Amino acid sequence: MSKTMTAPMTTQRQAPGPQQNLLLGALIGSRDGDTISFYMDLWRKYGDLARVKMGPMAIHLIVNPDHVRHVLVERVDNYPKGMSHDKLRIALGNGLLTSDNPLWKYQRKLMQPTYTPKGIAQFGDIMVDAADQMLARWRVRSNPDAALVVNQEMMRLAMSVISRSTFGLDISEDFKEAGQALMTILEFASARSMSFIDPPLFVPTPMNRRFKQALETIDNFLYGIIHERQRQGPGDDLLSLLMTARDEETGAVMDEKQLRDEVLITFFAGHETTAQLLTWTWYLLSKHPHVEEKLHAEVDTVLNGRQPNLDDVKDLVYTRQILDETLRLYSPVAIMARDPLADDEIDGCLIPGGSMVTIMPFITHRHPAFWDNPEGFMPERFEPAEIKKRPRYAYYPFGAGPRICIGQHFALLEATLVLAELAQHYRLKLVPGLWVEPQFMGTLRPSRDVLMTLEERRA
Ligand code: HEM
Repeated sequence: MSKTMTAPMTTQRQAPGPQQNLLLGALIGSRDGDTISFYMDLWRKYGDLARVKMGPMAIHLIVNPDHVRHVLVERVDNYPKGMSHDKLRIALGNGLLTSDNPLWKYQRKLMQPTYTPKGIAQFGDIMVDAADQMLARWRVRSNPDAALVVNQEMMRLAMSVISRSTFGLDISEDFKEAGQALMTILEFASARSMSFIDPPLFVPTPMNRRFKQALETIDNFLYGIIHERQRQGPGDDLLSLLMTARDEETGAVMDEKQLRDEVLITFFAGHETTAQLLTWTWYLLSKHPHVEEKLHAEVDTVLNGRQPNLDDVKDLVYTRQILDETLRLYSPVAIMARDPLADDEIDGCLIPGGSMVTIMPFITHRHPAFWDNPEGFMPERFEPAEIKKRPRYAYYPFGAGPRICIGQHFALLEATLVLAELAQHYRLKLVPGLWVEPQFMGTLRPSRDVLMTLEERRA
């Protein structure tokens, strides 16, 4: 296993990688035009620490658990979210996901208590209710044999959960204009994070125009709600918790612009990721009937036909292992980027300040040194005794270190309750012959719509 170093830097040795400068078109021209296969190929050829030059920029690929710990935990201050996050900042503002110190530290401390398991427990009812609304829609669909577009269904559900939890309104149902504007902004953010050269916002391209219009709509909507809360006093939603969160020393609360940025970022970070997790879970279950059978046995025993609640979560052990294993194979956040400030050394190789690192859970999670049969779907890998056998950072679907996902408890609670509630009523069967690949589009999306038919399990 490799060793990382925190001692003063002496090495000038470069990590292995292609000699030629791959210029900016390299990723686009790679196999399948796909970022994931580009980096997979790089890793297979050059190993755990590979270096690639793209135009003026050197990029290091980080996949080894020791290197992950080095970058995300031990030397986190040297690896901020600098330039690599500029595009997201343009789309979403400067909130928890996109900011660096000192703003990030201040905001994280302020927001952390809101997102503890206890803090988010109050949203469990909304999660179950959203699943029940989906069941009700499924029951009355006009053609019971027609396939559902499961990725869209899960997006609708996750949007309903995040908007009702954030400000008590179902944005996709009751505020369609704002819902549409939000989707436009999220799409713009994903598209920009994938592109190399973007026209500045003042250039009136159709995409820029759509984005600016959507931003105006969503700002009117968000500031409208913030002002209403200020007039009427806080409610029992995430926005109210964020509005009333006070700095321990000064007693200061967030200003309006910061609140707006944090709410927008919560939507971006918390909605599509959870929807992708659920979509991939249904897909994998349909391909692995023996896992599906065990899931059904567990939900039938624990729930016996009634709605799940918070107390059930601890008993839904296999349900959770299925989600953990889905997150291993298809981490919605498959790639993370950082921008080293000063020269550093990893495994005897120079990581120059001003370069970039790409950290890829997608590869770590299938690294044969840490995972037997890496492509196999085996939830039992997440039994406690099995977890203990692996290095801590062989698995990090929610990131690692101080910047670990603040919404992980929220996401896992939502996915567990929704999966259990839907699975006790329906089996989702993939349309025969459909094959879906993971594709990196800001998150790890299915390469085509996931079409599935429903089979009722309980009348
Ligand atoms: C399955 C669902 C989710 C996955 C896989 C996921 C994954 C991640 C990952 C990997 C990071 C770290 C990114 C980095 O270090 O560059 C992150 C950060 C973040 N996530 Fe999530 N996330 C999920 C759901 C959520 C939810 C539901 C919320 C909010 C309700 C949320 C809010 C955030 C925020 C605000 C950050 C930035 C934290 C910081 O830098 O302090 N996420 N997420």
